[in-house]
Amino acid sequence: MPVTARSSLPLLTPFADIPQGCSLQKSEDGQRFTCVREGEAVHVLADRCPHQGYPLSQGEARDGTLTCAWHNWKFDVRTGECTFGGEGVRRFPASVADGRVHVDLRVDVPAERARLRASMARALQSGDGGAVLRDGLRLDQLEELEGPSPAFGVLVEFAAARTPYGFDHPLATMTDLLSWVERGWLALPEALAVAAELAAEDYAYLGDRPVHAELEGEATAQAIPAALRVEARAQAEATARALARELAPGDAASLDALTREGLLPYVGDHLLGYGHGLIYTDKTRDLIARFPEAREALLGALIVRQGWHTRETALPPWKRTREGYAAVDALGPTPNTDPASAPQWSPEARARYEQAVLASEAAAVDATLEALGQGVAPRALVLASAHAAAIRLARFDPSWERRPEAEVTVLDVSHALTFPDAALALLPLASDRDARRFAVQAAAFVGKLHKSDRSEEPPASEATPSLEEVLRRRDADALPSLARRVPAAERPAAYARLAPFAAGETFVRPIFTAHAVKVTEACHRLEGVDDQADHAYLEAALTMVVPRRTERSPKRQATLALEMIEHSRPPKGLY
Ligand code: FES
Repeated sequence: MPVTARSSLPLLTPFADIPQGCSLQKSEDGQRFTCVREGEAVHVLADRCPHQGYPLSQGEARDGTLTCAWHNWKFDVRTGECTFGGEGVRRFPASVADGRVHVDLRVDVPAERARLRASMARALQSGDGGAVLRDGLRLDQLEELEGPSPAFGVLVEFAAARTPYGFDHPLATMTDLLSWVERGWLALPEALAVAAELAAEDYAYLGDRPVHAELEGEATAQAIPAALRVEARAQAEATARALARELAPGDAASLDALTREGLLPYVGDHLLGYGHGLIYTDKTRDLIARFPEAREALLGALIVRQGWHTRETALPPWKRTREGYAAVDALGPTPNTDPASAPQWSPEARARYEQAVLASEAAAVDATLEALGQGVAPRALVLASAHAAAIRLARFDPSWERRPEAEVTVLDVSHALTFPDAALALLPLASDRDARRFAVQAAAFVGKLHKSDRSEEPPASEATPSLEEVLRRRDADALPSLARRVPAAERPAAYARLAPFAAGETFVRPIFTAHAVKVTEACHRLEGVDDQADHAYLEAALTMVVPRRTERSPKRQATLALEMIEHSRPPKGLY
């Protein structure tokens, strides 16, 4: 069996002198073990309890069960399995020779890996984020860490299999957290702690989602959007899974082709699930690049989710956007790569375009049609819409979150920013039709949310607190001046300081945490690709994470429920 090269050690105390029951024993080199002697049998366990590290040797053994004295976790001494509590304890094979107990310290890596993965899955199932984290750290320590964290890999596989309606926020957040670890913004254990909590809270007590893998007909990329359009979700998933199985790990070109023909056309039909159709497509591809062995589970989860999304722009209030789709579909080829390819797209033209995007859905769609008609690349328009979205997010009126008759939070506006961020990543793979539609969607989305703006600028603050002070005090009033004060060259570093706060301290509810992470990452990415970036992206990220926000409101929940039941009235919204 593949094992580590460590040898076995004899215990100091002769076998004959080891007392019945539980005792602390040491090896010649000073290592501590808990020994449980049952007649002539002896069981050797790690002395550190897997819960919080207190000595198990201070516990009590009875009928083959060792109970930790500190919080009552119980372990089967024959296997090390935890029978009450959380993770199991390491049990060492031991034998008696020459009157001494010899402890085999070697680690059977494959067996230990399997044990830890199973233990993580059990902890996720019972919603114990702390146990997921501890076993995840043990798993990462076991492996030679050259690629992405194996513990994250377990979380990704588990989430993709469990999430009942397909790809969702914890999965999307995991890929951003891993990017932050790679950049040195967040330590891996901290990132794992956030991901473990998100996954444990969302997937506890769920069984695996049924997998639809039986294909009717040939698996072609084009069959995926065709099936989704007629709500043949099982067929769409089976096709995606079949195509995923054909993908060789790391075959980026084939994944790109599948994205273009199979994943993007349905997303191009409509703005899906408040932008999540495109956002999750981008995150899925990112996770597949990190964990290629999970490609089938991830693509399956993505397609399941696409099939359940609301088709936002099919709703009655989005008539102008639907007209925009028809108009751009009728256009000839539009350059899809080089923003500078249209000479009329000057900084002034972009500024005028952003004003139109911010004004309303109709103005945004009209301006997009005009620009596309002039040959402006969709990428340039999406980038301008992203900047407009950052301005919109920074203008968010927090009184929306206190209105009991409304169902609006900052999350409603944040998607208008994360959507174009995803679109920019995917545009190089999109057909002309889809690229133009993404430009229309990005602009219309920002315009549609114009009612979210506060009516007045907040009073200018005289104070000049540091970013750390603003975060510590959750000082929303200091945001506009703070964002403008940070010199352009220092903005990238500001995101690095913001990231741990966004991931760990900003919010309590997982869905808010997920969006704080996504917006911070999107703003950082947009800052990097927008050659006209100003303070707007940083201000948007700060607006998302600094103010204390109402995450739950029983008053609002009750008001909305009563309004609906007694008066059949829907909540006040942004459109
Ligand atoms: S330290 Fe053993 S149960 Fe808590």
